[in-house]
Amino acid sequence: MAPSTSSAITLNINGEKHTLPVDHRTTLLDALRERLDLTGTKKGCDQGQCGACTVLLDGRRAVSCLQLAVAAEGRVITTIEGVADGEQLHPVQQAFLDLDGYQCGYCTPGQICSAIAVIEEHAAGWPSAVTADVRPEAGAPPLTADEIRERMSGNLCRCGAYVSIVQAVARAAEAHAADAQAAEVKGAAA
Ligand code: FES
Ligand code: FES
Repeated sequence: MAPSTSSAITLNINGEKHTLPVDHRTTLLDALRERLDLTGTKKGCDQGQCGACTVLLDGRRAVSCLQLAVAAEGRVITTIEGVADGEQLHPVQQAFLDLDGYQCGYCTPGQICSAIAVIEEHAAGWPSAVTADVRPEAGAPPLTADEIRERMSGNLCRCGAYVSIVQAVARAAEAHAADAQAAEVKGAAA
């Protein structure tokens, strides 16, 4: 008997479990868009070069066009549809809105998912290719425009909205740092 080329899988997406049969060759991107109607995640190049399809897997960014759906089983998947808190936009979404970090909007879901992870990576002290001092004891480098450009370089924008995107990421990172500091002070006072 020929081996089966499909399986029933359960994907944990934005806090909800979805069980579906998939061909083993189905990418996570196609499963999201074509099978689950989660069309916020965009298909640009379909070969890992543009970042339009970026989602979060266990909090880390991943291009969903290069990820097989079957390999995403058991991971915590967050798409653009799941980053807001109910009616409350995620601070990165709000910053993109306030600072016009988009034009046509096609790349925006991927930009926002990437930016969310970039801010977490930076806060955790991860260096980038343009970080001057990469010694662990040096801590997180200042999140300069060059740092943001480098860290967001996997997300292309054909409209060229880069100036506003960099500003939006910087503003959201400042808000994230202020929230972390406030939580620290509250924790110390408790
Ligand atoms: S569609 Fe996945 S990187 Fe371009
Ligand atoms: S806003 Fe149009 S591709 Fe980025």
